[in-house]
Amino acid sequence: MKPVSFYLVTDTHYLDSKLEPGGEAFENNMVTEQYFVKESGAIISATFDKIIQDKETDIVIIPGDLVKNGEKESHNGFIDELYRLKTNGKKVYVITAGHDYNDNAYVLKGDGRVPVEGTDYNDLCEMYRDFGYGDAIAFDEPTHSYVAEITQGVRMLAIHCDSKDQPKGTMDDRLMEWAKEQLDKAKADGCSVFATCHYPVIPPVPAFELVGDAKIKDWRKVASFLADNSVELVLTGHMHIQSINEYYSESGNRLIDVCTAALVGSPAKYRKVTVDENSALKIESLGVPDFGWDLNGLTPQEYFDNHFASAIVARVRGALGGGKGIVKHLKAFGRKRFDKMTVKGFKRILCLKRDKEFDKKKFSDFVGEVGVSIFSGDSPYVEGTAGYNLIAGILGRFSFVIKKVEPKLLKNGEKNGLRNILLNTIGNNKGFSDNNAEFRLK
Ligand SMILES: [Fe+2]
Ligand SMILES: [Fe+2]
Repeated sequence: MKPVSFYLVTDTHYLDSKLEPGGEAFENNMVTEQYFVKESGAIISATFDKIIQDKETDIVIIPGDLVKNGEKESHNGFIDELYRLKTNGKKVYVITAGHDYNDNAYVLKGDGRVPVEGTDYNDLCEMYRDFGYGDAIAFDEPTHSYVAEITQGVRMLAIHCDSKDQPKGTMDDRLMEWAKEQLDKAKADGCSVFATCHYPVIPPVPAFELVGDAKIKDWRKVASFLADNSVELVLTGHMHIQSINEYYSESGNRLIDVCTAALVGSPAKYRKVTVDENSALKIESLGVPDFGWDLNGLTPQEYFDNHFASAIVARVRGALGGGKGIVKHLKAFGRKRFDKMTVKGFKRILCLKRDKEFDKKKFSDFVGEVGVSIFSGDSPYVEGTAGYNLIAGILGRFSFVIKKVEPKLLKNGEKNGLRNILLNTIGNNKGFSDNNAEFRLK
């Protein structure tokens, strides 16, 4: 691949402060939310300031979910920020995604939803004309996919898989045919091509293979199509997770999927990607800088991670509510234990004796930490560690549940059983980092 360098920022989910979110409904929603809404403007501005300071890299790529939920006011504010990048010498390329259009936009205010002006899907290309669409050398009208030559000899295939009239996360045969034409043309013109797509093409972690919306549909087919047509790199987002994965097609061609977390949520990362003259690909992850809010002495990373850990705990607690009859009583019992018990107490109930490392920790804190580490990439809970052994022990005790749900979940001939899929999601030694990695491209 020919040399290129760019910044990668994903899922900015900007909500303009002019919309004045707040009140009980907003605060209740934030309890289980992964990312920050009120802080989003300050986080984006501070990150763009850092990018502007780097005079060597002049390209910024943002693959979708630009705003919170299609509010017109948020797009206006976000576009102002993009113009700030542009007037400071940066070329910006976006694709829009499901959170960028909405006919029934609202903001949480007071005790409920207050309607606000939304955004028509068909207006988005014109709104973002100065940020990719205007530079397109090819444009696919039905999906808003496009190709742009972002630097001499390097083209970006921007696959829009989250358009209004198609099932979410789809690259159908017609779009693939259009992409094939563009890839053939690039080859004939002597250009290298990488791709970007809002949805992950390779499931970021093994368990996401079992979740319909967590990766592009027919992902092996799409990954093989790209790899077999000389696309070695795809940049994705959507799942708000830091992960890097490789996939080899049956013909032995490789695709690398760099999936980047939401800028405005844990783990507070964006990336710088460089390909040098020897086709060496270097992926660096950078932390969200100080964004001027009072974080009670915490770093942005700690502030983001703490919020996400408590959101995970709140979701588990929520799942342990409701039900009828005996189920309701069992859930209420579980909820009480979940809130109060230490890891040691939980192990005692399950007759687990080994690995005392986490014994004093509250069990709910342990659950929150494991969840955050999955989304941060490079999870420490890999085979051979005390954390892995503890989770494997717990899963072992619930093997009767796993056996029961396994046939329903594993419908696509997954090679690994559900237990291994879960363990490889919690910690997976792939041989390269999810955050800072280097590869040799063709
Ligand atoms: Fe998102
Ligand atoms: Fe998304």
